[in-house]
Amino acid sequence: MAKPKLELTWIGKDEEIKLEPRILIEDTEKSYGDPKSENMLIHGDNLLALKALEQDFTGKIKCVYIDPPYNTGNAFEHYDDSVEHSIWLSLMRARLILLRNLLRKDGFICCHIDDSEGPYLKVLMDEIFGRTNYLTTFYVQVRYPEKTLKQDMAFHKEIEQIHIYRKEYGANPNLNLADSSFDKFSFYIKEKKPGKRIVLGGKDVDVFLEGEYEIVESEGSENGLKEIWATGTILDGNSSGRFFRDNLSGRVATDGLGVLYKVYGIGDDKFSYRYFTGPKKANATKGKYFQGVPIAQLKDPDKKQSLPIENYYDLAADFGNCRQEGGVEFRSGKKPEKLLGVILKHFSNEGDWVIDSFVGSGSTSAVAHKMNRKWIGIELKDHAYTHCLLRMRNVIDGLDKAGISKDVSWNGGGGFKFYELALSLLRKDKYGNWVIDEKYNANMLAAAMCKHEGFKYFPDAEIYWKQGKSTETDYIFVTTSFMTVEQIDKMHEEMKPGESLLICAKAFAPECKDRFNNVTIKKIPQMILGKCEFGKDNYDLNIIKANDQAVDDVEDVE
Ligand SMILES: C[S@@+](CC[C@H](N)C(=O)[O-])C[C@H]1O[C@@H](n2cnc3c(N)ncnc32)[C@H](O)[C@@H]1O
Repeated sequence: MAKPKLELTWIGKDEEIKLEPRILIEDTEKSYGDPKSENMLIHGDNLLALKALEQDFTGKIKCVYIDPPYNTGNAFEHYDDSVEHSIWLSLMRARLILLRNLLRKDGFICCHIDDSEGPYLKVLMDEIFGRTNYLTTFYVQVRYPEKTLKQDMAFHKEIEQIHIYRKEYGANPNLNLADSSFDKFSFYIKEKKPGKRIVLGGKDVDVFLEGEYEIVESEGSENGLKEIWATGTILDGNSSGRFFRDNLSGRVATDGLGVLYKVYGIGDDKFSYRYFTGPKKANATKGKYFQGVPIAQLKDPDKKQSLPIENYYDLAADFGNCRQEGGVEFRSGKKPEKLLGVILKHFSNEGDWVIDSFVGSGSTSAVAHKMNRKWIGIELKDHAYTHCLLRMRNVIDGLDKAGISKDVSWNGGGGFKFYELALSLLRKDKYGNWVIDEKYNANMLAAAMCKHEGFKYFPDAEIYWKQGKSTETDYIFVTTSFMTVEQIDKMHEEMKPGESLLICAKAFAPECKDRFNNVTIKKIPQMILGKCEFGKDNYDLNIIKANDQAVDDVEDVE
């Protein structure tokens, strides 16, 4: 019997979605700024768009931030947010799997959500990314109760969550950095007489009874010691904690209260010993240890010190005031640039690819751009034009002075390309037969067939039948004309030894088949039928009509 696994199940979880690998068509009128820019703003459903990106971006994205509809049963001004629970889970699952494929091994995904689906999303992400790759959840204060205009609810929704996963073990976030200083190394221990030597846990230990030593607190220096309580996670977390737990925590009965232990051969500082103290009062169990300045810090005192990343952020004021950020008003779940700044600071570096497939008003793209990341933003609705386009133009022109602009001294520059998701390659004719959609011109058809067959569309400047390649010697040619034997013979003559060719033709002479070992000929559209779903454009999360309750009623915050 198969080993049962811990998982979340729902109606339709195992239904397979066979996505059509669409092409993306650049709308050069809408692309903006530096023509060499690789940044992409895509209008269309993100499931199809992520599939479209698969060929070029698998394993390339450093940071995913997504802020999907929360499925709260509320209708926002710009999108409906109420989807039956199972459908929401199915659609999120499909998108998360595609996003996972796009991530680099050292990449991260950060998924913003509220309480409605937060715990379900966590379990779903555990399954897709692996529980061991769960890093943390950021808890974000998004409003204060006294600033929320709506008072007719039983509970205030003050906190939202961001579940954060890495793609694989070894992906390390950028920790907080602080100037290293000796300030905390401010304790000095004076031994008034020699201690009594014992051996504990295989180490020499000098025991000083109360009155035989003195601990003085003064100004921090490279010779000072930092006081650390040996409790909680410390007891497992490092060698001093473990030494205390295993050898000193039960010594009161033997040594008495208020004892100092000098343990030899432990620690990463310049001292050959480390001091510990046991409990001072009856019934107390806790002790402390005294750590010197780590040798690494002594050797390079200017080196910044790494500090853990906080997992609570009070951004209520920023949430209240971000409506106009980027020069575009968007009341439906817009996130402040400051939040995206925190995410991108910790989970990406300059030059990395960042993607947001629910980009809304374009906050992630704007922040990624200002922080010198490369970005992809995907938006289903028309605010791809009315908001993202406008906002990114403002950013590039240096007109956007809001959000993080000041913090990063943003003055403009760069560019992006605007893409539309192509229509489905096939449509049904009046007899119910699948035919190539007439809106596909020859180049689009060739590019689409390349995607279907796993070739990179890369038309050769000289040899017309080399329209794409899967390796340096394996080519594809796509045509809607009738292929004759003479044409195949001519192509074969031009082929170099070791080269192979796949011809996708609407029709061909029967003798073309199996004419040459290194030339395969297949019929379109028959060769791709059944491989994926054609003619389906709606993979939208907004399936069920929501009730019309606005959620984002928050006063501006001073
Ligand atoms: C909460 S909003 C994101 C807001 C964004 N973080 C910001 O700061 O502006 C979610 C967005 O996802 C978009 N969306 C919903 N379903 C989508 C889909 N299937 N494909 C692409 N975008 C989608 C909605 O239109 C909406 O703009």
